[in-house]
Amino acid sequence: MRFSFLTVASALAPLTAAFPFGSFGLASWDVEGFAKDNPIGVTTGGEGGSTVTVDNAADFKAAVAGDEPKTVLVKGEINLPSRPKIGSNKSVIGVGRTAHITGSGLDVFNSTNVIIRNLKISFIEDNDCITIRNSTRVWVDHNEFASDITKGPDAYDGQVDIIRGSDWITVSWNYFHDHWKSSLVGNDTTFRDIDFGHLHVTYHHNYWRNEGTRGPAGRFGHQHVYNNLYVDFLYQAIHSRSDNQVLVEGNVFRGKTREALSTYGLVIPDDSPNTCTCGDEELDGYANLGAKNDWGKATVNITQVGNFRKAPYKFKLTPLPLVEPIVKLGAGVGKI
Ligand SMILES: *[C@@H]1O[C@H](CO)[C@@H](O)[C@H](O)[C@H]1NC(C)=O
Ligand SMILES: *[C@@H]1O[C@H](CO)[C@@H](O)[C@H](O)[C@H]1NC(C)=O
Ligand SMILES: *[C@@H]1O[C@H](CO)[C@@H](O)[C@H](O)[C@H]1NC(C)=O
Ligand SMILES: *[C@@H]1O[C@H](CO)[C@@H](O)[C@H](O)[C@H]1NC(C)=O
Ligand SMILES: *[C@@H]1O[C@H](CO)[C@@H](O)[C@H](O)[C@H]1NC(C)=O
Repeated sequence: MRFSFLTVASALAPLTAAFPFGSFGLASWDVEGFAKDNPIGVTTGGEGGSTVTVDNAADFKAAVAGDEPKTVLVKGEINLPSRPKIGSNKSVIGVGRTAHITGSGLDVFNSTNVIIRNLKISFIEDNDCITIRNSTRVWVDHNEFASDITKGPDAYDGQVDIIRGSDWITVSWNYFHDHWKSSLVGNDTTFRDIDFGHLHVTYHHNYWRNEGTRGPAGRFGHQHVYNNLYVDFLYQAIHSRSDNQVLVEGNVFRGKTREALSTYGLVIPDDSPNTCTCGDEELDGYANLGAKNDWGKATVNITQVGNFRKAPYKFKLTPLPLVEPIVKLGAGVGKI
């Protein structure tokens, strides 16, 4: 048997409960990117506060409210009748592999310093699974988001949408699957003045499978997109539009992924909503390429190169051949 990094990595995975790759410097399990390195401080969530465990909607809503530091442990499935607002200084963390939010999604609205981890959030009908609005320092880590892609682009809204001047966010190690519109950054061209210069988001080691569009789609901000795995991202994965900037490096695209990256301002008809069946015209965005990506059979359309050439922080870049196995092993719930 030939030993490659890959066989070693796969063999080691079951040996430790904790993720082994961090100790080899192959990927970071800790907060990394804009939620860590930013002008206002590292995201710590409820650190230093009390811990409560909740298993029903009323207790969940009460526990996440307010600004005092708190860790809220979520047990089992909770069907939310409305969208709770997650206040500042909160860690909302699923217990084991079965913590599951259904019904309504979560709002991080006017808040700072929030961690959302190890939750499955699926079939949310009222809006996005998570909407981050006018909020800073949010780390969305090791969650699973899913619905049903067969019902078309408008059956469900986004999985993680980041809007209204939100800033300093990291979206890492999530498993996004079977859903049309994944992650929109800046949800309206009319909010240029609010959004421009904000919306710094790091996306790393996420696993996107059988998705439609917006992996992510950004307007007016800066997104660093590295070491993500895209399998069957059917219409368009990364879209940078309306003067947005992306830095795209070390990602892997597989299966029936049509377009890996575009900066062409057309919001394709397969995205949503469109006012015309031919799609909606916006200004183009910008893209820079850092470390090599593996585009597979997917296309790339970079119409403008920007000035976001290098991440303004240190991070662990997983070697390209290890991205697929490491992301598959590490992303989603029950891993941390
Ligand atoms: C968050 O907690 C810190 C202390 O940990 C506190 O200084 C700050 O006021 C809290 N934030 C808000 C918005 O209350
Ligand atoms: C957010 O802040 C704005 C402005 O202060 C306020 O009008 C709005 O009610 C706040 N929303 C929430 C959910 O706290
Ligand atoms: C955004 O949130 C801050 C509190 O963090 C608040 O002062 C401000 O009014 C909010 N702005 C809007 C437009 O909601
Ligand atoms: C943007 O998101 C907000 C909050 O979910 C929503 O109220 C608004 O309708 C959205 N705007 C667009 C153009 O999708
Ligand atoms: C790529 O972008 C150009 C605009 O610069 C556009 O004319 C062309 O149709 C785009 N290609 C695809 C496949 O979307």
